[in-house]
Amino acid sequence: MNPVGKISVIGLGYIGLPTAAVFADRGVEVVGVDVNARAVESINAGKPHIVEPNLAALLRRVVEAGKLRATTTVEPADAFIIAVPTPFQDMEGHHWPDVSYIETAARAVAKVLKPGDLVILESTSPVGTTERMCGWMAEERPDLTFPTQRGEMSDIRVAHCPERVLPGRILDEVVNNARVIGGITRQCAQAALGLYRIICEGECRPTNARTAELAKLTENAYRDVNIAFANELSVICDRLKINVWELIKLANLHPRVNILRPGPGVGGHCIAVDPWFIVDSAPEESRLIRIAREVNDHKPDFVCAKVQEKARHLVEPVIACLGLSYKKDVDDLRESPAVHIVQKLARDKVGRILVVEPHITRLPPDLEGLGLELAGFEDAFERANMVVLLVDHMNFLEVDRDLLKDKFVIDTVGVW
Ligand SMILES: NC(=O)c1ccc[n+]([C@@H]2O[C@H](COP(=O)([O-])OP(=O)(O)OC[C@H]3O[C@@H](n4cnc5c(N)ncnc54)[C@H](O)[C@@H]3O)[C@@H](O)[C@H]2O)c1
Repeated sequence: MNPVGKISVIGLGYIGLPTAAVFADRGVEVVGVDVNARAVESINAGKPHIVEPNLAALLRRVVEAGKLRATTTVEPADAFIIAVPTPFQDMEGHHWPDVSYIETAARAVAKVLKPGDLVILESTSPVGTTERMCGWMAEERPDLTFPTQRGEMSDIRVAHCPERVLPGRILDEVVNNARVIGGITRQCAQAALGLYRIICEGECRPTNARTAELAKLTENAYRDVNIAFANELSVICDRLKINVWELIKLANLHPRVNILRPGPGVGGHCIAVDPWFIVDSAPEESRLIRIAREVNDHKPDFVCAKVQEKARHLVEPVIACLGLSYKKDVDDLRESPAVHIVQKLARDKVGRILVVEPHITRLPPDLEGLGLELAGFEDAFERANMVVLLVDHMNFLEVDRDLLKDKFVIDTVGVW
């Protein structure tokens, strides 16, 4: 059953486009809105502008069926889902959340609202953003009432329903994951619940908007703190000359201990970003969360120092750096610690740097002009006298151990 008529999804990126396509596949009329005209054109031609398994076939089907179309300007609908970016800005070490994309999108949505409409914020947001969003919309539309002003009596329903899908599995997880549905009021949560029931087979748990905002941030801060513990252990073990991988295996034999794996740092646009939103809202109270961020952000520099230490033993260091992405088997380089490491090694002129990243065909702009070379796996192995494993991509795992015998090896992910 479709409790709403037409749905509009604002922001057709990794989250918005699959969400729009899945709603359209359930027979709902969906109009997607994005400021990127090329993305809109591509979507209307039935071709996704992002890479996500099975999305191309689904998009083609719903566009051909006339259930999904895209546009650059917001038009009237019955429910709006806002899925625009929420990056952070780093100003001299102070990290603050940039909610300007949400403000722009909310003001644009406000212009076409009518009594009875539902507005859902899906973007990962600092606590209080959904309430602020009501304020921005109220400024645009003094003729309408919003739940922060009139509670259950308001003309418009507003909720925050954060997204927690894993790239690579989005089409499955958008349907099957449990969801937190944070209404500004109870009726707001019930309205949002009715909408998500169209596509969700996982549990949908209603709460208020502020709790939903912090729930999403908490999930990523939890991961970050636990990875920081593992990363800190790896640095302690280095000082004490103990194999951290063996140590963690032994400690995890305890029935109530489950230490995560250390690595070269933490990257991506979620775990490395969202904990700062908590620190920004409650700086005095979030000491552990801030320190975990700092521990994880320091790890790439620690790896660079280790490479430098070993390179001093070589007359002409030729260093093969394996992997650039922020995690295995993807092409996503956002906030990647491997990119930071490679960049620093090149700037510090530690040696000739060969970068091996099978998921890209050219170096990203921030690695250009540094004398780096994008090399094939075998070529790099033949030429290098040092190998630094930065990402546990599937094809790096099957390396012939004999090839490593006469080289310095730094394995930051513990798979060799
Ligand atoms: N990608 C993930 O795995 C993931 C997972 C969970 C949560 N999130 C959160 O979801 C939100 C969206 O992330 P994403 O990965 O889809 O981002 P994205 O950058 O892939 O897509 C955002 C889209 O919004 C568009 N946009 C920006 N301003 C707009 C405006 N005013 N009107 C219309 N379109 C506009 C951009 O052009 C872009 O296409 C973020 O808050 C992110 O933190 C992402």
